[in-house]
Amino acid sequence: LSVVILISGSGSNLQAFIDQHQAGKLDIDIKAVISNKAEAFGLERARRALIPTHALSHKDYDSREAFDTEMMSTIDQYQPDLVILAGFMRILTPEFTHHYQGRLVNIHPSLLPKYKGLNTHQRAIDAGECEHGVSVHFVSAELDAGAVIIQASVPISPEDNADTLAAKVHQQEHLIYPLAVKWFSEGRLRFDGTHAILDDHIL
Ligand code: GRF
Repeated sequence: LSVVILISGSGSNLQAFIDQHQAGKLDIDIKAVISNKAEAFGLERARRALIPTHALSHKDYDSREAFDTEMMSTIDQYQPDLVILAGFMRILTPEFTHHYQGRLVNIHPSLLPKYKGLNTHQRAIDAGECEHGVSVHFVSAELDAGAVIIQASVPISPEDNADTLAAKVHQQEHLIYPLAVKWFSEGRLRFDGTHAILDDHIL
């Protein structure tokens, strides 16, 4: 399965894909890593793994549409089977999400449909939740609203703050995101336009 991975930051999820691949547990070919921030540490992780990198700053483009058009042409040079958003912190245009429908996945740090958007860990604590978690989903035009593929939950303890909770959630991210991509690589997972389907079961 050929993939392109989009990041904006640390890239610990990217690292999980690299590690699983290098351990022979995930049959993917990471064709390129693209960041909208040139200083993202994830680019360094990609370089260390000898993966081609691109830094495309949204600030160099007049509009979201112009930026997304450039991203699409950068991605499409590699003809990936799947585009993986791994901490990519830009809202995507409908043109972009439509172009990759069914082959674009994201990870969001909440138990969707709860807590779309930013600062999910603090918001879950502030709401007095006793559990929180993370979701992998197919991307649709509406932010964090696509079909959920897999979720993992973690307990919120009274001592937790946003940082400790984020760390717990990250551990789960690094397990469930490679698993979802493994299912896709095995031809077991698809998007039917509304739902995620795993082995003919609606998720
Ligand atoms: C993760 O928390 C992910 O859920 C969110 O952005 C963060 C990316 O972390 N969308 P990393 O760059 O993979 O370490």
